[in-house]
Amino acid sequence: MCGIVGYVGRQKAASIMLEGLKRLEYRGYDSAGLAVLQDGDVALLRTTGRVAGLAKLASGKKLTGTTGISHTRWATHGGVTEANAHPHRSSDGRILLVHNGVIENYAAIKKFLLTKGYTFTSETDTEVLANLIAYHYAKEPASAETSRFLEAVRKTLLHVEGTYGIAVLSPAHPDELVAARKGSPLILGVGDQENLIASDVSALISRTQNVVYLKDGELVHLTPSGFTLSTLDLADVHPVIDTVTWSVDEAELGDHAHFMLKEIFEQPVALENAMRGRFAADGSTANFGGLNLSPADFRQIDRFVFTSCGTGWHACLVAEHLIERYARIPVEVDYASEFRYRNAPLDRDALFFVISQSGETIDTLAALREAKRKGYKCMAICNVVGSTIAREADGGIYQHAGPEIGVASTKAFTSQLLIAAMFALYVARMRDLSFADGVQYVAGLKAVPGLARRALAQAPRIQEIATRYAKYNDFLFLGRLDLFPIALEGALKLKEISYIHAEGYPAAEMKHGPIALISDQCPSVFFVPKGELFNKVVSSMQEIKARKGPIIAIVPEGLELPDGLADEIIPIPDCHEAALPILATIPVQLLSYYIAVARGCDVDKPRNLAKSVTVE
Ligand code: M6R
Repeated sequence: MCGIVGYVGRQKAASIMLEGLKRLEYRGYDSAGLAVLQDGDVALLRTTGRVAGLAKLASGKKLTGTTGISHTRWATHGGVTEANAHPHRSSDGRILLVHNGVIENYAAIKKFLLTKGYTFTSETDTEVLANLIAYHYAKEPASAETSRFLEAVRKTLLHVEGTYGIAVLSPAHPDELVAARKGSPLILGVGDQENLIASDVSALISRTQNVVYLKDGELVHLTPSGFTLSTLDLADVHPVIDTVTWSVDEAELGDHAHFMLKEIFEQPVALENAMRGRFAADGSTANFGGLNLSPADFRQIDRFVFTSCGTGWHACLVAEHLIERYARIPVEVDYASEFRYRNAPLDRDALFFVISQSGETIDTLAALREAKRKGYKCMAICNVVGSTIAREADGGIYQHAGPEIGVASTKAFTSQLLIAAMFALYVARMRDLSFADGVQYVAGLKAVPGLARRALAQAPRIQEIATRYAKYNDFLFLGRLDLFPIALEGALKLKEISYIHAEGYPAAEMKHGPIALISDQCPSVFFVPKGELFNKVVSSMQEIKARKGPIIAIVPEGLELPDGLADEIIPIPDCHEAALPILATIPVQLLSYYIAVARGCDVDKPRNLAKSVTVE
């Protein structure tokens, strides 16, 4: 949802910002722009489309300035045009600004500014911010030159409703940047004779590992030699400098064709990292230091509520199955975007969980805040360390999956599934799961990274299947129990990167309506379970086959389907049943990826999407 990079230091700002913007492009790629202060003036470049286009534009210019702001946009207010691209400049030319978020009272502010003679050239809510800062700047006494710029930004933000991460510069203040956040992430990078601001650490790590995660309502003033942090009501803030553990290489594409493919193949390592140090010495259960709850606290809990969005919501559904099956504790799952407005009645002793890769998804954050407002303890399963959700939760579990840059979530999802399986074990062992079953469960989970490597070895065969199936425009994904969420995930993966219509259903629901879609033009991807439902799923496959629907079956090794029932069989390694959703996911990630590539789609930057959805 828009990426921001700002730089103030001794080096040329433009090239540093362009490198950072490239890493933030997953946040939006409708347009890009930058502004650099130089020779007492501003060089302002903006273009529709990708950061590469902006870089090309910049390569023809002499950009020597050492203070700048830049932006990659995911359009909210106003179409995808150069006029709506950031940075925006106030009509008096004194203020330039980049913004991530939505200014809800922009219409009233704009009306006011028009009466004061300010003019507008874009359809954005952002331009009103630039002009309102200019308005306050003009009102500040010129004698207060050192604080004038900062004060103008601060006073402006006191009048703003909505969400923002902003970075602001002024030609009258060549060695200064001002940035602030409310509801949109912003991170300060503390360098040597340089300081930076960005929406995400990936844009900072090539310059510094030292970062300060800004909190909502904080304002920062940056110069090459330092920074000051305060709240909007001028309370001093003591900065906590964190060290980022991600390396530059982890956020690089390397030899891979796409980040999505790279991240699919990183899953064995991400799964190992999710488990590292999290099994008890007796080998029968898991440990989660970050939950900040004792076993006695857990005994009081009579229900878990899980919420999330998109792929994370599918992980919640798998958590529901595993916790209910192994720990016999009821679990409720809700879309975060619905929960936040539903005012749902909750059990007195419920424990709330949110799942978010980025830790910045606004709906998930709002659901967490709503649960906390009602007095519930709220845990977070997050990948991004220091993210807003991670910081606001009462406790949680970090995924340690490394940066996920492809818009389609892959390694973060399977790592969430593994953490869900470990958490189910943790609470099951506090209830009725025996020591021997716990030991077997732990051994089953420890085997997962190796089994995931074997599942990935199917990639050439899946690519070949994908090439043949890329011509279809409708797909069904069908699974039962904890493989139903994987059917939903398979359908989501396919539709978001290949634009093919795909739906996920519980396999037995298919005959209650979706079967009307079946023809030789609508393939079904079946997740075949072990155990008592095997025969039921085979019957569902027969019903599809009778209507000439092509079938791709994902089948655990050792299971035999009736001859000729499936057109394609993708075997997955046999595993502990708690790990089956993880291993069943890998083939559909690869299938979706290779179908999208065969259709010529831009896999890492699918149309209309952005990785981190920080607006409603
Ligand atoms: O960062 P989050 O996990 O909170 O993101 C939630 C969804 O926006 C995300 O999973 C989205 O559905 C992905 N594009 C799925 O691949």
